[in-house]
Amino acid sequence: MKNKFPSLIKIIFNLFFLIFTIFILGLSFNSCNPFEEKPVKAKNGMVVSASSFASKVGVDILKQGGNAVDAAVATGFALAVTYPQAGNIGGGGFMVIHLAKGKNTTIDFREKAPLFAFREMYLDSTGKFIPELSQTGVTSAGVPGSVAGLIYALNKYGTMKLKDVIQPAIDIAKNGWELDERTAKSFEYYLPEFKKYPSSLKTFTKEGEPFKEGDIFKQPVLAQTLELIKKKGTDGFYKGRIAELLLKQIRALGGFITQKDLDKYKPVEREPIIGNYRGYKIISMPPSSSGGIALVELLNILENYSFKQNDWGRSSYIHKLVEAMKYTFADRTKYLGDDDFYPVPTKVLISKKYAKTIFNLSRRAKADKIGKKAIPSEDIKTGKIISFKESTETTHYSVYDKYGNAVSVSTTLNSSFGSRIMVEGAGFLLNNEMDDFSAKPGEPNIYGLLGSEANSIQPEKRMLSSMTPTIVLKDDKPFLILGSPGGAQIITSVLQVILNVIDFNMNIKKAVDAPRIHHQWLPDIIVYEKDIFNGNVKNELKKMGYTFKDDNAKNRKIGMVAAIMIDNKNKIILGAFDKRGPGTADSY
Ligand code: GLY
Repeated sequence: MKNKFPSLIKIIFNLFFLIFTIFILGLSFNSCNPFEEKPVKAKNGMVVSASSFASKVGVDILKQGGNAVDAAVATGFALAVTYPQAGNIGGGGFMVIHLAKGKNTTIDFREKAPLFAFREMYLDSTGKFIPELSQTGVTSAGVPGSVAGLIYALNKYGTMKLKDVIQPAIDIAKNGWELDERTAKSFEYYLPEFKKYPSSLKTFTKEGEPFKEGDIFKQPVLAQTLELIKKKGTDGFYKGRIAELLLKQIRALGGFITQKDLDKYKPVEREPIIGNYRGYKIISMPPSSSGGIALVELLNILENYSFKQNDWGRSSYIHKLVEAMKYTFADRTKYLGDDDFYPVPTKVLISKKYAKTIFNLSRRAKADKIGKKAIPSEDIKTGKIISFKESTETTHYSVYDKYGNAVSVSTTLNSSFGSRIMVEGAGFLLNNEMDDFSAKPGEPNIYGLLGSEANSIQPEKRMLSSMTPTIVLKDDKPFLILGSPGGAQIITSVLQVILNVIDFNMNIKKAVDAPRIHHQWLPDIIVYEKDIFNGNVKNELKKMGYTFKDDNAKNRKIGMVAAIMIDNKNKIILGAFDKRGPGTADSY
C-alpha cells in the first residue's frame, strides 16, 4: 500500500505529460501545416472568383434577392473588367447549372471557328505547322461567345434584368479599380506584347509607362461597350458599332472573322455529362469541352480502388492516379472534339464498364518482370514525346444562392490576355482560342495537348476545351461547386479536389490548397508541385519507372480552384479560393 500510492501519482503524471505532449505536437503540426487555412463560411450565399471585386459584385446581386444565375452573369461581366487576363467579353466559356427544383443543364458559349476556317489553315505549303498563326495575333481569334452565353443564361434562368446585373461592371470600368501587385506586374510582363498593338498599349499602360500597384485602372472605352450591351443585349455586341469596330480591327490585321460569323453565333444549351462517384452525382460539361467526360472517366476508373485516409500522397496512390490519367488523356486525344461535328463515343467513355476494362489494363503493370509498375505511355498508344508550357489563363467562378441554386462557370481567352489585341475603340481583348484545335494530328498545342480528326479545324466548329465547371450533388442537393484554370491541368485539378473531399475527408480549403500532380499521357512525365512528395515517395515512384518534370518544380502551380462546399446538415456554405491565386470567397 505504501508503494502503490506514489506509483499511481506517477501514472497520472505520465498520463498528463502524454496528453500535454500530444496537444503541443498537434499545435505545432497545425502551425507548420502548409495548407492550414480555413474555408470562408456563409449562411445565405457565396461567390468565389479570381477577383475580389467580381466576387463582391456577385454577392451584392445575391443580397438584392437575385438568384445564382443573376449573380453568375454579374460576376462574369465584372471579371471582364477586373480580371482582364481571362475574364472577358471577347472570348468564351461554359456554364453548368443546378436549379433547386432539380433541373441540371449546361450552356456552351465556347468560341467557334470562323466560316473561313479550314483544316490546313495553320500549315505552310509543305504541310508544316506554323504555331505562331494559331497561337498569336489576329489569326488565332475564334468567334467570341461570352456575351451571347451570359445573356442566354440570364434570360432563361435568371430573375433580374440585364441592365441591373451589368451595371456594376460598367461602374467599375468607368470609375476604375485599384490594381493589386500581381495584376500590375502582369501588365508590365506583357508590355512587349501590348506594344505591338496601339490600342493594347493605350489600355494597359499610363501613356507607355507601366502601371504600379495601387494605381487606379480605368477602362472608359470598355464601359461604353458594356453600356451598348446593356441597352441592346446581344445586338449591342454582335451588330452595330461594336461589331463594326471588331471587324475593322480584324480586317486591318488580316484576320478571318466576318459579320456573317457574328450573325451566326449562338450559344448552345446541352445536356450535362452525368456521372456517379461513390454515391455522389457528378454534373459536368459535355463537348465541346473534354472536361466532363475526362473527369467522369477518371473517377470511374479510380472508384475501383478503395482509398484509406493515410493513402493520400503515398507512391501507391500517386501511381493509381497517374495510370488513370494516362488512359483518360489518351482517350481525350483520340475521341474528343465538338460532337456537333464528330461522333464522340460519350456513352462508352463515361460508362462504368469501360472504366473497369481500363482498371484491369492498368493493373497488368503489377506483373512487370523487372518490377516496374508504370505503363509507358507509348504502350497505351504511340505518340511523340513533346514539351509544353504550363498556363493558368482561364478563370473559374462558383456561385450558390439561398434558394439552393448552384452555378459553376469557366471562361477564357485561352492565353493570358488572349491574342493581346485590344479592339480599338471597343476596349476588349480578342481571344487566341483557335490554338485549342488540333491544327495537325500529332502536333501539340500550347498546352502540349495532342489531337486527332475529332478536333480538326472546320468552319463553325468549336475547338476542344479542357474546362471542367462541375457541380457534385449529395442526395440530389448541391454539395460541391468547383472548377479551375490551367489548360489540361484543369481536369486533373478538379479531380484531385473531389478526391480530397470525398475519399480523404478534407475540408474544402484544405482540399483546394493541397499539392497536386498532373499527367496527360504525353509527354510521359509526372508534373508535380513541390510539396506533394514526402519522405521517399519520389524515389519509390522512380523505382516504379516514372519520370518527372523537374524544371521549375519549385515555383510550379497546378490549377487555381474556386470552390464551394455546402454542408446541408449544418446549413452552412463553405467557400475557398486556391492559395495559388489572388481570388476571394465572398459571402453573406
Ligand atoms: N483554352 C483552354 C481550354 O479551353 O481548355
